[in-house]
Amino acid sequence: MSKGLAGQVIADTSRSRVDGQKGELLYHGYNIMDLGANSSFEEVAYLMWNSEYPNAEQLAAFKAEMAGMRTIPAELMSIMKSLPTGGHPVAVLRTMVSMLSLVDADAENIEVEAAKQKAMKIAAVMPTIVAAWQQIRNGNEPVAPRADLDHAANFLYMLNGEEATPEAVAAVDTYLVLLVDHGFNASTFSARVTTGTLSDMYSAITTAIGTLKGPAHGGATQKAMEQFIAAKDAGVEAWFNESMETGRRIMGIGHRVYKVEDPRAKIFRPLAENLAKQSEEGHWFDISLQVEQLARANQFFIERNLFPNVDYYSAPVLYMIGIPMDQFTSLFAMSRVIGWSSHVLEQLANNRLIRPLAQYVGPEGLTVPK
Ligand SMILES: CC(C)(COP(=O)(O)OP(=O)(O)OC[C@H]1O[C@@H](n2cnc3c(N)ncnc32)[C@H](O)[C@@H]1OP(=O)(O)O)[C@@H](O)C(=O)NCCC(=O)NCCS
Repeated sequence: MSKGLAGQVIADTSRSRVDGQKGELLYHGYNIMDLGANSSFEEVAYLMWNSEYPNAEQLAAFKAEMAGMRTIPAELMSIMKSLPTGGHPVAVLRTMVSMLSLVDADAENIEVEAAKQKAMKIAAVMPTIVAAWQQIRNGNEPVAPRADLDHAANFLYMLNGEEATPEAVAAVDTYLVLLVDHGFNASTFSARVTTGTLSDMYSAITTAIGTLKGPAHGGATQKAMEQFIAAKDAGVEAWFNESMETGRRIMGIGHRVYKVEDPRAKIFRPLAENLAKQSEEGHWFDISLQVEQLARANQFFIERNLFPNVDYYSAPVLYMIGIPMDQFTSLFAMSRVIGWSSHVLEQLANNRLIRPLAQYVGPEGLTVPK
């Protein structure tokens, strides 16, 4: 038995292939380096749900349909406005996605076409929830979505109440493309386990958001940015040495599968570097680069094949375009919902309850005291 199921293949999938030795990631046969440079979020969403790349006509119809699903239902918006503001924004997103099922009279339907529609609805409305919460917790009225803007552009518009620069839109779009899917990562696995019980799409996505939230998974981007801030305050080298002395992990470094550089880090590093050139916050790229260089020159990281993962440079990217740090994981969820739901559809098409065994190591033969 391997702790944490490391190295175990537990199902077939045609959704994405992760090669941890070569440092390669494919979605449905398309290399992430190609998709990251040339595709929009909507094109990749279409690919993941339909197992084919859209042509111009298919894409236009798909974009229009999805853009028409962005509004938060009125009954849920009024509940959202009454939620306590103290918790983590991902807890709000998890709660709101769960509540979406309450206003869908057909919520339990897991026929493929119905499930696909629900996936589109959830993915379309998630950015509205994230942006609305940002406004609500700051005491403002949520900004209504605009159907004339693409997914990434509309999200930034709702988040900030004004249209974003083309650079910021392109950066968020690339971010959303790169995070869509990644084999049997923990949150995808949890979505498939939920679906394995024949539960509904809303339950599967709610489960997955809860799993993504942890700092060993999607929560790492926020932690990575917090560490860059701590490193700046303490001095990068002093901070790094203290991390080594105390055994503090460098967030955004290391990966269960990749033993070479994560291919997505190869895209995010230059993206962060370019954004830094145009940003007053550009020093965050230099700090993250310095930490990486210190780590990669250190025997501990070299021996264990620890490289920056997807969360490392995406942290300064999101920070430099003004995404609040505690909303980083929400953006991850806005992207990964495509992968989760695509895996749910795959699970439904050939389902069997996922129910492994545990090896019991506790005591035996005890009796209740009389
Ligand atoms: C991603 C992660 C959870 C993978 O964990 P894993 O496959 O279970 O690997 P382990 O936790 O067993 O780590 C293997 C070794 O590398 C070390 N290590 C792993 N990631 C490290 C990091 N970020 N900083 C310092 N050391 C690290 C561990 O201490 C361990 O050392 P040991 O062999 O002396 O015990 C882990 O690398 C991590 O915690 N990274 C930081 C969080 C992060 O970026 N998560 C997002 C992943 S996409």
